[in-house]
Amino acid sequence: MTITTSLSGDLQSQVAKASRMLIGSDWVESASGETIDVFNPSTGAVVAKSAAGGAVDVDRAVAAARTALRGPWSTVTPSQRGRMIARLAELVERDAETLAQLESLDVGMPIMEARYIDVPFSVDILHYYSGWPTKITGDTIPVSFPHNFGGPYHAYTRREPVGVVAAIIPWNLPLMMAIKKLAPALATGNTIVIKPAEQTPLVMARLAELILEAGIPEGVVNYVTGLGESAGAALVNHPGVNKVTFTGSVETGKAIARAATGTLKRVSLELGGKSPNIIFNDADLERSIVSAGMAIFAGQGESCIAGSRLYAQREVYDEVLAGLAARASSIKLGPGLDDASEMGPLISADHRDKVLGYLDLSKQEGRVVAGGEAWGDQGYFVQPTVVTDLGPDSRVLREEIFGPVLSVVPFDTEEEVTALANASDFGLGAGVWTQDVGRAHRMAASIEAGQVWVNCYQAVDAALPFGGYKQSGWGRETCKESLDDFLELKTVVVHL
Ligand code: NAI
Ligand code: MG
Repeated sequence: MTITTSLSGDLQSQVAKASRMLIGSDWVESASGETIDVFNPSTGAVVAKSAAGGAVDVDRAVAAARTALRGPWSTVTPSQRGRMIARLAELVERDAETLAQLESLDVGMPIMEARYIDVPFSVDILHYYSGWPTKITGDTIPVSFPHNFGGPYHAYTRREPVGVVAAIIPWNLPLMMAIKKLAPALATGNTIVIKPAEQTPLVMARLAELILEAGIPEGVVNYVTGLGESAGAALVNHPGVNKVTFTGSVETGKAIARAATGTLKRVSLELGGKSPNIIFNDADLERSIVSAGMAIFAGQGESCIAGSRLYAQREVYDEVLAGLAARASSIKLGPGLDDASEMGPLISADHRDKVLGYLDLSKQEGRVVAGGEAWGDQGYFVQPTVVTDLGPDSRVLREEIFGPVLSVVPFDTEEEVTALANASDFGLGAGVWTQDVGRAHRMAASIEAGQVWVNCYQAVDAALPFGGYKQSGWGRETCKESLDDFLELKTVVVHL
């Protein structure tokens, strides 16, 4: 198989813009002049060179964000702010196809997923937050100071932006992840410096152009591309940054939390998962098997909410295992930009090798019933894989693989599967498939996870809280509660 990806002229010229960053109103290369190769994961070819930003670039970007915070952005009314976010939503929708192609080229995700999930959800998130700026209010609070304090008093609260937000973005859904952080930061009146993942800088250049076109003042949104250990660490350590919002690995999340204690900046973390998906005997098997296949194989399994641990009750275990093996074997792999591809490559050669390591381990620790190998002779593809007969301490069953590898485990009772589901350091998502209403709600209450889906999976929405229990993170994204993470609460007491 030879994959050739010829890019349209428009896409080609957009890709070439990866060598720049946006700082204030300036499109700049890195101060050091250094660059990072950007690969097409479907072929392994270098498609662009991005700016290798470092501490000097981060300094400039934070200074631009601080200037905008005190300057033009502070005079924009809540209504105008909301309209700018809504305008950005319209522009993302207008350019949906270009953005989807950039995402697909950069990440390797099938273009269909970029078109129907990544981009439309990004638009929804912007529309959701565009309504918030005019609704962020404080309280007036009756106080009970004794009379000899010489009252009366008038007390109230103000909700103010935290200041400059640093957003550190992973490579699995670069557009949506950037917007998930950008939209609430803007809605609450902050300014922001975004650092895309070094593997996937392409879409940010186009998004930044749209941000300026939407009329958002210069310096409000800046972005610096570069490595985590240089550009990322410089942001986390910077005294001019008030808050860090991060999505990525548990290991890096912990490193960021530790580094942020130096200045005690606020941190929110959306980290990994090893999410259980539980099919009871009475479930609608056809639907649950189709959904469980998507839960692990969508986005090549490079998803924090991937349903990677499938628990099937004893009576239906054989049928569920066979159904999932058949689905895995039928998935059409191919380059991201091909309309016919149902699954793309993994993000990088390194990540593919890590996943292949887990496939070897699957053969040692258990029994592979579908897939189990690399695929093709170029790019970073691996086969959708289903593995069973794993012991409770199996690494394949406990560790986040972040690839298309599903573990299937039988169980007998509700009590047993609850304990199995919760025997994890993670607590991000969970699925429960049953027709028994009582059981559905009992399970929803007893599973330790930020979101539980009953007779569905991966159902996310801009208005719903998204985040994790345990080592899956700190805080919630989307939803109204996310706004609190970007706001300070100030108490004002006035002697009348
Ligand atoms: P990572 O968590 O190291 O990288 C994510 C982002 O953090 C990137 O922008 C990176 O440049 C930045 N970063 C890295 N080190 C940093 C530091 N010390 N300070 C500040 N920023 C830093 O993830 P990586 O290395 O790309 O992938 C490793 C594993 O993480 C994957 O195999 C997967 O298991 C998991 N992962 C989970 C994601 C999720 O959505 N939960 C997303 C991406 C990766
Ligand atoms: Mg890393």
